[in-house]
Amino acid sequence: MSNGHRPDPCSIIIFGVTGDLAHRLVIPALYNLTAGKLLPENFCIVGIARKGMSGDQLRDSLMKGLHQFATRKIDDGLAKQLLSCVTCVEADAKDPASFDAMRGRLDRLEADRKTAGNRLFYLATPPTAFLPIAKQLGRTGMLKENGMWRRLVVEKPFGTDLASAQELNHELLKLVDEHQIYRIDHYLGKETVQNILVLRFANGMFEPIWNRNHIDHIQITVDEKIGVGHRGSFYDATGALRDMVPNHLFQLLSLVTMEPPSRFDARAVRSEKAEVLSSIQIQSEEEALKNSVRGQYRGGKVGDLEIEDYRKTEDIKPGSTTETYAALKLTIDNWRWAGVPFYLRTGKALGVKRTEIAIKFKQAPFAMFRDTPIDKLSQNYLVISTEPVEGIELQFNTKVPGPAIDIDGVEMKFRYKDYFNAEPSTGYETLIYDCMIGDNILFQRADSVEAGWRAVQPFLDAWKKAGAKGLKIYDAGTEGPEEADEILARDGRSWRKLA
Ligand code: BG6
Repeated sequence: MSNGHRPDPCSIIIFGVTGDLAHRLVIPALYNLTAGKLLPENFCIVGIARKGMSGDQLRDSLMKGLHQFATRKIDDGLAKQLLSCVTCVEADAKDPASFDAMRGRLDRLEADRKTAGNRLFYLATPPTAFLPIAKQLGRTGMLKENGMWRRLVVEKPFGTDLASAQELNHELLKLVDEHQIYRIDHYLGKETVQNILVLRFANGMFEPIWNRNHIDHIQITVDEKIGVGHRGSFYDATGALRDMVPNHLFQLLSLVTMEPPSRFDARAVRSEKAEVLSSIQIQSEEEALKNSVRGQYRGGKVGDLEIEDYRKTEDIKPGSTTETYAALKLTIDNWRWAGVPFYLRTGKALGVKRTEIAIKFKQAPFAMFRDTPIDKLSQNYLVISTEPVEGIELQFNTKVPGPAIDIDGVEMKFRYKDYFNAEPSTGYETLIYDCMIGDNILFQRADSVEAGWRAVQPFLDAWKKAGAKGLKIYDAGTEGPEEADEILARDGRSWRKLA
């Protein structure tokens, strides 16, 4: 993670530079890095476009994107300075000769810009293009590290199930070593997510109670108000589970449940994360059906916004059984977590936008407060919240002032914005900076990716077989299907209310 120094000279070669990701996140993040003087002194951006596009056209389009998506006020001089180092190169993985030509172009550009041959190949493309591009880069020798570094950045999704993720890793690892691959999960770019490790391991008071002796259960919620919008064809083939659980929700899960790493470095941290993910109990398909609920939204109002039926949305098959909501119960088979249930839920077109991890501690023996109605007592939750507020809160019981012993629940709240004055960011700044300095602590290793898919595979299989049976339809703007309550109710528990 950022140590504030400028990275080695390098070039960043962006495949899919004309697309949404590059305009919305990558270039605005590079702008913020420029503003923070965190880009290398010798640096250039090469945009790889498939169809003929001039350098001026690309720079204009990126400038427009910057004005539209910047997280801070744009200084035109600085923006021009950044975009002046953009070159447009035409290449298509279907046309091997274009990669041979690109190789020569990059060599010449680098000699010009003195970037020392260090290259960050950023695949901001649909996942189907990952391998064809990587293969061409491999064939032309552009991934070889001979005294310089060559790194490959790939965005999620890493496969669509366990078999395809294994295949993708296997094929990529024929071309590059694991240390050259940077698998981005943008949740790891979020400050609040990175802070989970600091909260747990830089404070002595949490570790002694962070286990099955004191924790009753953990809930992880990633609820969104938006529907699928214009991403219909991607989403309909993907669904809520694949889109969110083995990646984003499992990042949150692994940070909250991993063992303390022996050092704060990529090897130790990533090994502990992989270890805990591979300890998630693999359920049978029968268990998976019992321990999950999937739903699909129908039209309704989310705040002031009218959301149309999922099935009537552009590019969605009319009879689609793709889930837009998923709730699961998982367990982790190790000494720290045996017997502690983990309840995960995520969905679209819901009434609130909320990302949080709620850690529920075991109830105190209330015998001495026998006369207090138990339902008046607050539950002891520690809540780590990423959206809509960034902060941490602790709920506990306290005495109501007065002569009698009356008890009521209160909350102690920490908000990032009250303490720190951070410039708003895209969340990609740290990630891109880390790629440039060669720190892969915030990136997913092949074994973690596969462990994630292994844990969700029974749910995918069971749902595929069940088809329309078991798919619960919920109204947009609600909390999702009511059946999701039953997963917890069976265990005598309930979801934390999302106000
Ligand atoms: C993306 C998913 O990875 O994460 C989207 O593909 C989802 O469907 C998004 O909306 C959520 O990210 P965030 O940062 O808004 O919680």
